[in-house]
Amino acid sequence: MMIKTRLLNRKILKRILVISPVVLVALFAAIQLVPYGRDHDNPPVLADAPWDSPRTRELAVRACFDCHSNETHWPWYSNIAPISWITQDNVEEGRDELNFSEWGRRQETDEIVESVEEGEMPPFEYTLRFWSSISGSEKNELIAGLRRTFGDGDSGERERDEDD
Ligand code: HEC
Repeated sequence: MMIKTRLLNRKILKRILVISPVVLVALFAAIQLVPYGRDHDNPPVLADAPWDSPRTRELAVRACFDCHSNETHWPWYSNIAPISWITQDNVEEGRDELNFSEWGRRQETDEIVESVEEGEMPPFEYTLRFWSSISGSEKNELIAGLRRTFGDGDSGERERDEDD
């Protein structure tokens, strides 16, 4: 009896080991058919932010523009679900809060400097992408440049209303 059960268990286990990769591959193939996340749109640049210097802009391009501008660089793997979904969601939410390419409209500018200083932005996962990594000293340079360009955020000039 014992032996029989063990044999049965082994049989089931073997079947699971064979089937589960097949199921995973099929699932992976199926989610590629979901249309969300493949537009990869870059709307026209309407008004560039008033950068204090080309250097600040360059650092911001590397650290922020993929999610906060209309000049997003869509890597090849942003075509592959589920990464494509996450990327699309990041860009949509990021642009909505702050878009350096649409400076004519109201923006979430009051926390720009703070968000980088506190390490909240760019998001940690993003810093793992090799082309975006800015070194520690470049980060300080970026913070100083952002402060010169946008101030510390207390001006309230371009602040969005809470209920916007
Ligand atoms: C990988 C995408 C991504 C990158 C890169 C990125 N952000 Fe964001 N950012 C977001 C998303 C998504 C939101 C909105 C949701 C949230 O707050 O997490 C956001 C929100 C913000 C906000 C609104 C306030 C807040 O903290 O919610 C500010 C300000 C901001 N980002 C600044 C920056 C700056 C400056 C950089 C570059 C140093 C940057 N972000 C890089 C995705 C990104």
